[in-house]
Amino acid sequence: KNHFFAQRLFDGKTFLITAGPTKEKVDPVRYFTNRSSGKMGYALAEQAALMGAEVILVSGTDSLPAPNGVKVVHVESAADMFDAVMTHANEADVIVKSAAVADYRPKQVHASKMKKQSGDLVIELERTKDILFELGKKKANQFLVGFAAETDNMEEYAKGKLVKKNADMIVANNVAAEGAGFAGDTNIVTIFHKDHSSVQLPLLSKQETARKILHEISEKLGGDHH
Ligand code: CTP
Ligand code: CA
Repeated sequence: KNHFFAQRLFDGKTFLITAGPTKEKVDPVRYFTNRSSGKMGYALAEQAALMGAEVILVSGTDSLPAPNGVKVVHVESAADMFDAVMTHANEADVIVKSAAVADYRPKQVHASKMKKQSGDLVIELERTKDILFELGKKKANQFLVGFAAETDNMEEYAKGKLVKKNADMIVANNVAAEGAGFAGDTNIVTIFHKDHSSVQLPLLSKQETARKILHEISEKLGGDHH
């Protein structure tokens, strides 16, 4: 890996990046989570820092080392992530929401360990707040990047999220495809811009995917100043 010639495209810019899954408590010994590893978000944080950005990484995983020069804020639930993101949102020039945020959480969190009973168990779930949607509502001069994890109809769903969440860019990945998605070290993404242009990237390492995504962001940021 040669990072020696990383272009400092983001000198003076602050990035707020979220990564990894969230964990929603059921009781003191159990939670609901998802398959996100956090690797894509950590790669974005690492590469943005190498390109000169100040980076705050709000992370739902403890399993990855903090990238060089990146401030990591660890969170557990979607509600924790919401609070951490809102605390730092105003400092950020660019917000990248690569975290896989739970859409639902148990309506009731049991204070003591649930004991098994005979028969089935039903756990009622309630919706969490959509962090990206809330950011999009109050966005002023920020550049807002969302992810879309899909298994089908990727383009349609990704473009829908771009509009609904008032994002500037959506990075879509087919999490069911070979070489793409949550666990591995590679990804295959398509970038959808607000101006209706799109860029389809080939199978790349998550570090290289991150660099390409960041170059797209840099180009769009630069465009605002001309
Ligand atoms: N997101 C968020 N807060 C949530 C749910 C999602 O900020 N409570 C963000 C994700 O971080 C991602 C984008 O919204 O950047 C899209 O997430 P995704 O799960 O693909 O889409 P949803 O809008 O949740 O729709 P669905 O899961 O039904 O496809
Ligand atoms: Ca979701």
